[in-house]
Amino acid sequence: MLRRLCRVCHQLRVSTMVVLQLLVPLLVSCVVASAGPPRHLPPCQVVQMDVLCSDRSLRSAPVDLPPGVHLLDLSRNQVQNLSRETLAYHTGFYHLNLHANKIHFIQPGLFKDMTELKVLDLSKNHLNVFALSKTSIGRLTAVESLDLSGNGLYTDMSDYFLDDSPSLANLSLNSNSITKIAQNTFSGSLSLEKISLHNNVILEIEDGAFDSLRHLTDLDLSKNSITCITDFNLYNLKALNLSMNSVEHFHSASSDHLFNLLKLDLSENKMLYFPFLPRTNMLQYLDISRNHIQSVNVSGSPEKTANVFLTQLQYLDMSFNRLKSIPESFFCFMRSLEVLNISNNCIGSFSITAEGLLPTVKIINLSFNSLQSLTFGENTLQSLETLFLQGNDITTLNYHVFQKLPSIKYLQLQQNNLKICDSEPNLYKPEPTDQNQLDPPDCVSLSSVRSLHFLYLSENNLQYLPANAFANTPLRLLDLSLNPGLDMDKDSLCGLEHSLVHLLLRENNISSLHTDLSLLQSLKHVDLSTNQLTSLPVWNKESSIESLNLQHNNLVTLESSTMVALEHSLKTLYMGSNPLNCCSNLDFLNMVQRSAVVVPDIETVTCVHEDFSEPVNIEKLTEGMCQASGKTMYIVVGVLALIVVMIAVALLVQQSQSRKRKRIIRFRA
Ligand SMILES: *[C@@H]1O[C@H](CO)[C@@H](O)[C@H](O)[C@H]1NC(C)=O
Ligand SMILES: *[C@@H]1O[C@H](CO)[C@@H](O)[C@H](O)[C@H]1NC(C)=O
Ligand SMILES: *[C@@H]1O[C@H](CO)[C@@H](O)[C@H](O)[C@H]1NC(C)=O
Ligand SMILES: *[C@@H]1O[C@H](CO)[C@@H](O)[C@H](O)[C@H]1NC(C)=O
Ligand SMILES: *[C@@H]1O[C@H](CO)[C@@H](O)[C@H](O)[C@H]1NC(C)=O
Ligand SMILES: *[C@@H]1O[C@H](CO)[C@@H](O)[C@H](O)[C@H]1NC(C)=O
Ligand SMILES: *[C@@H]1O[C@H](CO)[C@@H](O)[C@H](O)[C@H]1NC(C)=O
Repeated sequence: MLRRLCRVCHQLRVSTMVVLQLLVPLLVSCVVASAGPPRHLPPCQVVQMDVLCSDRSLRSAPVDLPPGVHLLDLSRNQVQNLSRETLAYHTGFYHLNLHANKIHFIQPGLFKDMTELKVLDLSKNHLNVFALSKTSIGRLTAVESLDLSGNGLYTDMSDYFLDDSPSLANLSLNSNSITKIAQNTFSGSLSLEKISLHNNVILEIEDGAFDSLRHLTDLDLSKNSITCITDFNLYNLKALNLSMNSVEHFHSASSDHLFNLLKLDLSENKMLYFPFLPRTNMLQYLDISRNHIQSVNVSGSPEKTANVFLTQLQYLDMSFNRLKSIPESFFCFMRSLEVLNISNNCIGSFSITAEGLLPTVKIINLSFNSLQSLTFGENTLQSLETLFLQGNDITTLNYHVFQKLPSIKYLQLQQNNLKICDSEPNLYKPEPTDQNQLDPPDCVSLSSVRSLHFLYLSENNLQYLPANAFANTPLRLLDLSLNPGLDMDKDSLCGLEHSLVHLLLRENNISSLHTDLSLLQSLKHVDLSTNQLTSLPVWNKESSIESLNLQHNNLVTLESSTMVALEHSLKTLYMGSNPLNCCSNLDFLNMVQRSAVVVPDIETVTCVHEDFSEPVNIEKLTEGMCQASGKTMYIVVGVLALIVVMIAVALLVQQSQSRKRKRIIRFRA
């Protein structure tokens, strides 16, 4: 910041005398700044009963603190010794923020008389130095929230801060170097509700360390070195975060006691099996992504496979594991599941066929597996709205698989190898009873998927898009990008006239579009970038298109009739990297110059002009530059006209002479 200020000064110095008056004070501030501290710092800000002194190089609170201060923010200062004196002998604080100072000493008993102090932030100081003195800070009479994160505390050092904190409910010990939670660590703070121990190096939790904390609901042990949880029995806990440890087994105590746990995060560990969870549980959220799970069998006890009672579970993330399959029975009791993420596994086949299974699931993420088959029964997955099947290399699917999903709205099928069927309404029967009569087609039908709005089919090596491919499917977005060589039937988008808003046809190597986009009356956003288009698609009616991307094509001339059709709705046009001809696109130039449309990539929009060896940026082009060459044209045309006239005259003269001759001949006759 200071350096930038000096550079400004430097620039000003070279400018004219007029700004000299401005220059002088700026120069002075540069000189002062480069001389280093003392910086001139504004006094603390006082807002009602809050005194805000953050980042002012203070070693203590200002002596003239108003009486009755509610909050004192002394964060990011230079306080080293926290004593009554440093706090200007005030004791009535409610909230004291001492984050990021250099505190290495706290006067013992300092907080004993602060009967109003509820929030104390001592994070990012040097309290490990204080702890080495083996003195306790004394009673934290009223403190409810204490932040001791980032203080280099290790082993039992937290004891000196917690041994007499009867009101403490919320404690953060994040980012310290604690290796062990001893049985008595929290014995002086029995009101704790929430403990954060994120980012330590905890290897060991002594038996019963949390047992006496009857109010504990929230425990964050993420980013530690815990390898195993056995006999988990914190019945009152609501949220447990064990993400980013080295947990290999998670085993709850076998008991019929009700567990209140709602959220369990076991992501980024080393589990080989599904965790063993208590039978009577209320779990709503379970994240076991990024482990080494190979089957949904429960930890070390294959006979318990079928007994995963997760009736309240709403969110299950098992992505980034090594699952090869998931038996349908695994989902039997999941009556509340809404989100299921099993992406990035090795699942080859997925089927949900039993009636009524997973009735509340809204999202299934099966992307990046190796799916060969996907089967949905009738009356299953009634609520499924979003299905991600990206990156599976699927070549064949049961051709009417998507028609079985009554609520499907959003379908990601990119990075597969699908073929799209013709719409043949007669072919589709709810359940083919005479299966052997009909060879199942090796394509998938996307017509009559009555609720589907968003469809992604990019990178499928699609060769051909048949007529009426999406008939009776009310698509709003269709992405057909990155299917080079895609041949679209001229009627392939029939049926989408009133629904389609977004059409993406990027990188398809299309040289001309046979489909009449002007029939798509709701179309607003079209991406035709990176193709081989030599002419614009025809818009013969007034279009509704608001943004159009034509970057990286072979467009030389933009037909004026099309530009006129587009102009009334078009707001944004990408046009860069096309071999435009300068003087044949004056309508476009006009449109840009009148700012009728925004051309965000205008810097890359160039055109070819015979008078210049390099392409000219469209912004630098003037109509004059084209009139000049127009004049030479006029001369050429004029000369040509003159020659034509002369020839005509010569011919006339010749003819009249010959006629005269003829007449003469007739006279003779
Ligand atoms: C901190 O300040 C107190 C009181 O001002 C003083 O008695 C004590 O020696 C100081 N301690 C350190 C370590 O500077
Ligand atoms: C608990 O303390 C942390 C860290 O100081 C704070 O971010 C959080 O808001 C507090 N939570 C409650 C419930 O007081
Ligand atoms: C668990 O902790 C990790 C790491 O701090 C965090 O990213 C994640 O959101 C937490 N999980 C939950 C469920 O809050
Ligand atoms: C899972 O359990 C089933 C049935 O009990 C068993 O056949 C299968 O081998 C188990 N899989 C693994 C990986 O342990
Ligand atoms: C799993 O998928 C869900 C839904 O698509 C998503 O919200 C979640 O972030 C994904 N999990 C990971 C680890 O990316
Ligand atoms: C599906 O889950 C993966 C993690 O496995 C995540 O990266 C991706 O974003 C999810 N897809 C969507 C569209 O949410
Ligand atoms: C793109 O089309 C041209 C002909 O228009 C063809 O020569 C070329 O091979 C095609 N490229 C791809 C990747 O299909």
